[in-house]
Amino acid sequence: MNVLVAGGAGYIGSHAVRQLIEAGHRVVAVDNLYRGHGQAVDRRAVFHEIDLAETHALADVLAKEKIDCVMHFAALTYVGESVTDPLAYYDNNTAGTISLLKAMKTAGVKRMVFSSTAAIYGEPDSTPIVETARLEPVNPYGWSKWCVERVLRDYAASDREFAFVAMRYFNVAGAAADGALGEDHDPETHLIPILMQTALGQRDKITVFGTDYPTPDGTCIRDYIHVEDLCAAHIVAMNALRPGDTRCYNLGIGKGYSVKEVIESARRVTGRDIPVEYGPRRAGDPAVLFADADKIQRELGWSARHTELDAIIATAWKWFERHPGGYET
Ligand code: UFG
Repeated sequence: MNVLVAGGAGYIGSHAVRQLIEAGHRVVAVDNLYRGHGQAVDRRAVFHEIDLAETHALADVLAKEKIDCVMHFAALTYVGESVTDPLAYYDNNTAGTISLLKAMKTAGVKRMVFSSTAAIYGEPDSTPIVETARLEPVNPYGWSKWCVERVLRDYAASDREFAFVAMRYFNVAGAAADGALGEDHDPETHLIPILMQTALGQRDKITVFGTDYPTPDGTCIRDYIHVEDLCAAHIVAMNALRPGDTRCYNLGIGKGYSVKEVIESARRVTGRDIPVEYGPRRAGDPAVLFADADKIQRELGWSARHTELDAIIATAWKWFERHPGGYET
């Protein structure tokens, strides 16, 4: 298939580009390089520096490259930033996707695999979270993605040939097995990369945000899914899409780890001392989030290969050891 990957220079998009190529697809990557890295884009892909707002440029590329399916990863993804700058999130994530859909309509492209998020569930009533759970985000980031799912549903209702699948990610982690691709965010706010940077001595310590949650050890529980497993699920979902499909799937391993367990795992994997301080809760963090990932297994036969945290963190560590300064090293 000819696949356009929007956000192909980002953390997840760059892994998807490579996996798609290795699965035999022809890949065109687009990215505005605002937070992505040109070096992360596989050289076998065609690359265009285009912003989602550039509807006409996108439509041209979609038509000229005879694109069959769009995988859409391009988004702003910091929860905290979305609270202080909500317009940027609705603009990039929601309006940006509408621009991309308009370009797809012009070019007659009828399939989209969309990066959604567990943040659209907000504070769940119960865990594990099933796809039919109440959708009530607790921050603008989650709402910006919720809006896109709504738009996709309405658009699909207006064009019976259009098909989409919304992939609702839990905590994406790890790096390519060969250490060539990995996570390089600036600023970095995610737990595992911060632990890796602390193990490397680039940070003095990690602050645990809250020890008084109603969980066995008092710290938050999350479901960490390996980035390569996540990308593999996208390819399986893309291949399964039929005209008129409006699907959504949780992407997690279906198992939760507490912040303290993640820290212990990082210490085991790196063999380094990782100093910890205990601080107050971070605003907006739900206590427990983990997926019921049965639906995608039942319907598409996909399940995560990496189901142990140590194995996931080992791939992140390989990347950080080889690239202590990110893609610049
Ligand atoms: N944490 C710390 N210290 C840190 C960083 C994180 O204790 O320095 C804790 C957080 O409080 C949280 C856990 O580690 O309990 C995981 O935090 P991350 O920032 O790594 O990830 P989040 O669970 O906050 O965010 C993820 C995705 C978001 C998505 C969100 C949905 O990265 O894109 O889940 O809730 F929006």
